[in-house]
Amino acid sequence: MSLKNKVLNYLETRGDEFVSGQQLADYFRVSRTAIWKAISELRKEGALINAVTNKGYYLVRESQKLSLDGLKKELPDFDIHYFDEIDSTNSYCKQISHEDRTKKTLVVSSKQTSGRGRRGRTFVSPNGGIYFSLLIDSHNNNDDNLLITSIAAVAITRAIKRICDIDCKIKWVNDIFIGNRKVCGILSEGVIDMEVGKIRSMVVGIGINFSTPIEDFPEEVRDIVTSIYKNENSIPNNVSRILLVKEIVTEIYNIWDQLPSKDFLDEYRERSNVIGEKVTIYNKDNSVESGLAIDINDKAHLIVRLEDNSEIELGTGEVTLRVTK
Ligand code: BTN
Repeated sequence: MSLKNKVLNYLETRGDEFVSGQQLADYFRVSRTAIWKAISELRKEGALINAVTNKGYYLVRESQKLSLDGLKKELPDFDIHYFDEIDSTNSYCKQISHEDRTKKTLVVSSKQTSGRGRRGRTFVSPNGGIYFSLLIDSHNNNDDNLLITSIAAVAITRAIKRICDIDCKIKWVNDIFIGNRKVCGILSEGVIDMEVGKIRSMVVGIGINFSTPIEDFPEEVRDIVTSIYKNENSIPNNVSRILLVKEIVTEIYNIWDQLPSKDFLDEYRERSNVIGEKVTIYNKDNSVESGLAIDINDKAHLIVRLEDNSEIELGTGEVTLRVTK
């Protein structure tokens, strides 16, 4: 057996433990350079071997990676499209939205090269994150369709609590926060049926910073983003990306199928980091207003009391909001 395969087997048997280059060299009675070369070759072949300074090497368990087989196993009712890398799962989902389908559609990627955010912004999507889009058939009631982003937000917070045991906050309307940093964004887009001029289906795109090291984000966002885990090695054994995707998708459909019930909005309000805060509102016409966020109503609109004591209702997608410290 070649040295590289022996090294791979050895790392597999050591499970989650770190093994230093020196330990490997001693064990196989070769130089550290030979070990380094073997590891480089294995990586080129696709093995996910992480190296941590002063600790050593570690083989990322298959179960923690996203894969078509793993996703299919957990979500057998879905037509799943998996990519190691794609421009944008939302764009792909929209492209295939016109195809005939018998199952629910889910598009998942481990990396995006042109991830899209709200208002034409870029959503930085390096390896380590989870990027996926669901294609959902619309309800007849358009007001219900417009709740999809809020539904996704509640589903994500439930799932992160259940799978990762972490409490997140929702920043109206589409951002999920851990502490005061953004960990996840949601972009919902409608697919219009031109013949009847109605929303036929919706693409709900979710980008989660799962175990993305902070250095992998551009410098300008490092102060405002975070990841659920700080790197691959910090992911607990009982947590996996696939389980998190499964939980989110399942929760989205649970809530979606319960509409017109708006019970989930109580949870949205409880998890809101905006209600009770002073906010600055950036309108599409570039005007700016300030006030106090006082509630979120049953349309998931934010109610803000302005400085002159009048109240305004902000619809999803209309404004950008900043919490004023
Ligand atoms: C935002 O924060 O403004 C929304 C970000 C939404 C990102 C997700 S990642 C999966 C899907 N594909 C995209 O191109 N965007 C969404």
